[in-house]
Amino acid sequence: MAFTRACEENDLSINEIKKVKLGDQSLLLIRLEDGYYATATHCTHVFAPLARGSVTDGCRLVCPFHRAEFNIKTGAVEKWANFPPGIAQLTNLLRKEKALKTYPVRIEEGAVMVDPQG
Ligand code: FES
Repeated sequence: MAFTRACEENDLSINEIKKVKLGDQSLLLIRLEDGYYATATHCTHVFAPLARGSVTDGCRLVCPFHRAEFNIKTGAVEKWANFPPGIAQLTNLLRKEKALKTYPVRIEEGAVMVDPQG
């Protein structure tokens, strides 16, 4: 599957997160100040649904479970699971840092296009 229409350019507000399905692939669309980005739907720690997370510092996606933070543009781990204190450190013995998958996004004639295989 090549680039596929995910939504219209004005559908999301700044820092809004939306889960979309393209074919049989689900992913998150996130609108930041400088454009749209797409990531995997679940945290790489213990698979929390990141659609219930939040955006902070202009480009970080915060997991709703143990507060890992991922760079929305690159998927890199900015901060690994750290909540609640003690419990998260125990889970971290089993679950090492792992980046979040990201997908290519481009705008075409007012539509947000994502390559879900990218
Ligand atoms: S599931 Fe995301 S930080 Fe634990």
